[in-house]
Amino acid sequence: MNQAPGGTPAPATADLTTSRAATVLLGQGMTRTYHGRTVLHGVDLSVPRGQTVAVLGPSGAGKSTMLRCLAGLEPLQEGTVAFQGELLSRAGAAPRSAGGRIGMVFQQFNLFPHLTAAQNVSLAPRRARGVPRARADEQARALLARVGLLDHCDHYPYELSGGQQQRVAIARSLAMGPELMLFDEPTSALDPEFTREVLSVMRDLADSGMTVVVVTHEMDFARRGADRIVFMADGRIVEDGPAEDVLTAPRQERTRRFLDQILSE
Ligand SMILES: Nc1ncnc2c1ncn2[C@@H]1O[C@H](COP(=O)(O)OP(=O)(O)OP(=O)(O)O)[C@@H](O)[C@H]1O
Ligand SMILES: [Mg+2]
Repeated sequence: MNQAPGGTPAPATADLTTSRAATVLLGQGMTRTYHGRTVLHGVDLSVPRGQTVAVLGPSGAGKSTMLRCLAGLEPLQEGTVAFQGELLSRAGAAPRSAGGRIGMVFQQFNLFPHLTAAQNVSLAPRRARGVPRARADEQARALLARVGLLDHCDHYPYELSGGQQQRVAIARSLAMGPELMLFDEPTSALDPEFTREVLSVMRDLADSGMTVVVVTHEMDFARRGADRIVFMADGRIVEDGPAEDVLTAPRQERTRRFLDQILSE
């Protein structure tokens, strides 16, 4: 096992330094084990600035685990994760938080039920960054307008649809000024009509130049919204390439089987 001594940060490798400009996120040899069972087998993933990556794969493939490792939310048994050329996570040490610089949106929105949409969005900038209330509120309203919720700023989560709540959750992540957004099946808890509006917000984000990695089963989004598709199975990346190529001419039999199955559903 690649045990590094605890406490001291490992030196940045030449790889990390030279790739600083173009690569926002770099996972190398990421291995994750739960109770002695390896669910991520030395996975490498490099995400260039501005790219939208869709991660596809069957249930249990390790997609969420990989995303959490990339976000520095889970320790690695082997390997490293670097964000903007800084080491975020390495084997044998607790990962460092990237603060709000990596935004993460999950299937469950986890909004505070006792706070309005605008209060949910302004909370972290106020608490973690000390932004004054009036400015944080103004920024929250601008972000809610950006996700199409200007009229719902003062509504509580129970007054909002699932799709609206998910857009508040996206605005909440954006409030911390992330340089990278990670989404884990952001629409899989939503009805189709609400799925569309969330996907459209994600498309706008990607079009604005945000770097995005999204685990999704939405093939339309993968086809039209993603630059690149990473297909995972059994804790490994099986195929990785331009979205159009992977979807229309997958090179691996495993990818082909998955696509045939999902497209016939
Ligand atoms: N906290 C945990 N403790 C133990 N095992 C876990 C834990 N989290 C994930 N696993 C296991 O790791 C494997 C990969 O899980 P993961 O959630 O990453 O898959 P996934 O590709 O996101 O699947 P899905 O499409 O169902 O969300 C699974 O076998 C799962 O049971
Ligand atoms: Mg998952």
